[in-house]
Amino acid sequence: MGEDYWDVLSKKIEEVLDEKFGAGWRTEKHAAPRNFSYKTLHNWVTGNSRPRQPQNFEHFLEAYALRGTDVAQELRALRAKALKAENPKIADRVENVGRLLAQDSSSPVAHPLEDNSSFPDGKSTISSEWYLQQNKAVWKELTQINLKSPEYPVADFFTGEISSTLMSVEVAELTDVDRKTLLHLQCHFGLDTLSWARAGAIVTGVDFDPDAIYVAKFLAKQVGYPEARFECADVMQLNQVIHDELFDIVFTSYGVLPWLPNLKIWAETVSNSLKPGGVFYMAEFHPFTNVFYNEDDVKGLYAHKSYFEEDPILLQMKPYVSRDDNSVQERFDAYQWQHTLGDIITVLIDAGLRIEFLHEFPQTPWKHFPFLVRDEDQWRRLPKPFPEIPLIFSVKAVKQ
Ligand SMILES: C[S@@+](CC[C@H](N)C(=O)[O-])C[C@H]1O[C@@H](n2cnc3c(N)ncnc32)[C@H](O)[C@@H]1O
Repeated sequence: MGEDYWDVLSKKIEEVLDEKFGAGWRTEKHAAPRNFSYKTLHNWVTGNSRPRQPQNFEHFLEAYALRGTDVAQELRALRAKALKAENPKIADRVENVGRLLAQDSSSPVAHPLEDNSSFPDGKSTISSEWYLQQNKAVWKELTQINLKSPEYPVADFFTGEISSTLMSVEVAELTDVDRKTLLHLQCHFGLDTLSWARAGAIVTGVDFDPDAIYVAKFLAKQVGYPEARFECADVMQLNQVIHDELFDIVFTSYGVLPWLPNLKIWAETVSNSLKPGGVFYMAEFHPFTNVFYNEDDVKGLYAHKSYFEEDPILLQMKPYVSRDDNSVQERFDAYQWQHTLGDIITVLIDAGLRIEFLHEFPQTPWKHFPFLVRDEDQWRRLPKPFPEIPLIFSVKAVKQ
C-alpha cells in the first residue's frame, strides 16, 4: 500500500525530467548534471530503485537546481507520504531522540565551555560567565520542551512534509543563498539552518546547548544533509570552534539578542566571520515590545519596563511555546538583556558593516501578547482596535 505513494513520487519525478529534457533523459546519451547518471534517474522512475535515501533525494534536487523551489517542496511532501505510508511510526524516531536526551542528562556532545573562560562584561558586577551558565541550564530544559511541542514541527520537517520553517520575511529579504556558505548563530536544533540548506546554502549552525546541537546533527543526517555542520559554542566565544573561516552569509533570528550580555563582542564576531562583501542578515523580535507587560492575563498594552534598561533582567520566564501549549506550565529563572534598536545598529556599524536596510514590521512569529491573532501565514498581529506597533525588525548589512 505504501508503494502507491512511491509510484506517485516516481511519476512526478518523471514529469519534472520530461519537462526539463523532453524524453531525452531516458537515453544513454543524456549527460545528467554532476554525474547523476541517467541510470539512477531511470531506476528512480521505473521503480527499480526508489528515492528512499534522503541523501540521494537531496542530491538529485541539488543536481537539477531544484532546491528551494516549489517543485522541491512538492516532491518532498510526496516522499513524506510514501515514507509515512510505509512506516507510520517513522516520525517517532525524532521524538525518541528527545526522550533519549531527557533520560540521559549527561550530554552526548562534548561541551567546549567547561573551561570557565570569561569575557568582558559591559553591564554587571556579576561575571557574565555566571549568567551564561544559568541561561545554559534554562536552554537545556527549553530544548526538551520545544522538541515535543507542535510549535516546532520536527517530525513533519524530518519526513519532508514541511520543507522549511523559515518565515516569509527572511525568505523574501535574504535571497541568493544557493551554494553560499551560511553561518547560523544561535541555531537551536537546526530546523531553520536545515531549511537554508534545503534552499541551497552550505550551512554551519552554532548554539551553546549541546542537546540542541546533538538533535541538529541527527536531523541533518536524517533529512539528507550529513555535510551540514553543527558546533556547540557560546556565540561570544565562537573562535573556540570556528577558526579562520569566513562565510558568505551570517544569519540569526527570532529570540537571540536578549540572551547576549555584550553586543559589541557579538557584532565583532559577526563581522569577523564574514568575507569582504559578505552579508549579515537578522530578523528579531523588536526591543520595543519588551516595554509592555505580557503575562497571560494581560488585556492591553501597558508600558511597565524601561526601553533603556541597562542591568540584566531576571525573568521568571515561561517557555516560548507555552503561549500555544497549555500543557507547558513550568517557569525558569533566566537572565536577559535589553538592547535598543539604536544599540544594535550602532554596534554593527562600529564593527565595520554597512547597513543596507533596517525594516520594522507589525507582525511576529511568536505570541508575544496573549491577544495577538494568527493569520494563515503563521504571523501574529495585534487585532483592531489596537494601534499597530513594531513587533519584529530585520537588518541587512554588508561587510566593508
Ligand atoms: C529562541 S532560540 C532561537 C530560535 C530560533 N530562531 C528557532 O526558532 O529555532 C535562542 C537560541 O539561542 C541559544 N543561545 C542563547 N544564548 C546563547 C549563547 N550565548 N551562545 C550560543 N547560543 C545561545 C539557545 O540555546 C537557543 O537555542
